[in-house]
Amino acid sequence: MALISPMTMASSNMNEDIQHSAPYAQFASQPIQFLHWWTSRGEVAAVREVHGVLGSAQIVLESVPVEGAGGKMAKSILQARAIAGNPPDMAQLEGPAIKSWAALGFLHDVNKVAKENHWDQKLPPLLREIHLFNHEYVALPMTIHRLNWLWVNTQVLNRVDLPIPKTWPEMVTTFRQLKAKGISPLAMGNEPWQVVQLFENIAFGLGGPAYYREAFIELDHETLTSPITHEALMIFRQISEIVLSDMPNQPWEAATQALLSGERAFQISGDWVAGEILASEGEFPSRIQCYATPARQAGFIYNIDSFAFFKKPTLDKWAVEEMVTLLSTPVFQARFNQRKGSLPAFQDVSLEGFNPCALQARADFKAAEQAGTLMPSVVDSMAVSPVIERAASSELYRFFNHPEVKPEDVILHMKNMKIGM
Ligand code: BGC
Repeated sequence: MALISPMTMASSNMNEDIQHSAPYAQFASQPIQFLHWWTSRGEVAAVREVHGVLGSAQIVLESVPVEGAGGKMAKSILQARAIAGNPPDMAQLEGPAIKSWAALGFLHDVNKVAKENHWDQKLPPLLREIHLFNHEYVALPMTIHRLNWLWVNTQVLNRVDLPIPKTWPEMVTTFRQLKAKGISPLAMGNEPWQVVQLFENIAFGLGGPAYYREAFIELDHETLTSPITHEALMIFRQISEIVLSDMPNQPWEAATQALLSGERAFQISGDWVAGEILASEGEFPSRIQCYATPARQAGFIYNIDSFAFFKKPTLDKWAVEEMVTLLSTPVFQARFNQRKGSLPAFQDVSLEGFNPCALQARADFKAAEQAGTLMPSVVDSMAVSPVIERAASSELYRFFNHPEVKPEDVILHMKNMKIGM
């Protein structure tokens, strides 16, 4: 994974309808450095919006994109830079890491803007909890991504007259049938972040919310050793037996291109896929459809992106507040999330003009919120400590890639992780 060299994008005039109030000429000589892992087409389009809205107030953003979906490399670089006393001004963060950075004293709070703009009323409780530390908002919520999506190229399925699978065993059968007809079923790159997302989906689908929480967030021994874990690992193994021989080591966005071209029939990943589809095709094509991945009990596996602002002598609090004000307007939040494929974090933002999958996602988010079935993604850093996340991911990735590893081995290793919690 390589660090892409920093780039500075010119401001655009596409944000003139977003209000701003102060001149920021000094930012031209001292750009705001922004570290993130948004490098695919859809992600770059979303980052361009950030450049645009800040640029409309003469704030120059210097983007530092670090390749690697899920942000493993970006997070390591952020840590190294912070320890060296040279953090970026602004960084993409996810979930519980926000509180950790705040607890270490690295972050500016954004509480003044949050209070003035009534974030308490506009954010769902889950997002309030993630962004508050010691009763103060310490980061700006940017997205709500859904991970339990099955993206389907319906042209491919129609060509061979196969229906959309409704259960995980049906999914395995459909994959086999496609393969028998010479069609590669699944668009997925062989890297842990992508592969383990598949497992999360299977485990949630078979076990439901209580099982998922107890087994993979609390690492509860009894739940982990229950037959459901075995069943989930067996489905995971069956899928690996079908797809592994034809699974390039490619990023998720290359997999999305294979889905779009009809080279592959399905992709199982978050709705950054929608952002990529939109950036590639200009509009959401009718041949691509999204379905919640099969589940015995409905729910919503989420991942949330946030922007945090690092305390450093060159970054004044008032500048942070101005940026947060610009970045949190409903107009900007709508524009950004439309590009990103995600849902706006703020519930008062209209979804007019959003793709059909986003509309479905918001309805499902609300239903899951009511039912208590909003589930944090483990592989995407929303649930457990980074140490557990890495250990669990590497166990599951090893299982997927090595047929000689038995379900019992994975279960035993995951049980032992609890000791490190
Ligand atoms: C981020 C998304 C991003 C995806 C793929 C996730 O960790 O939350 O914003 O699109 O990784 O890079």
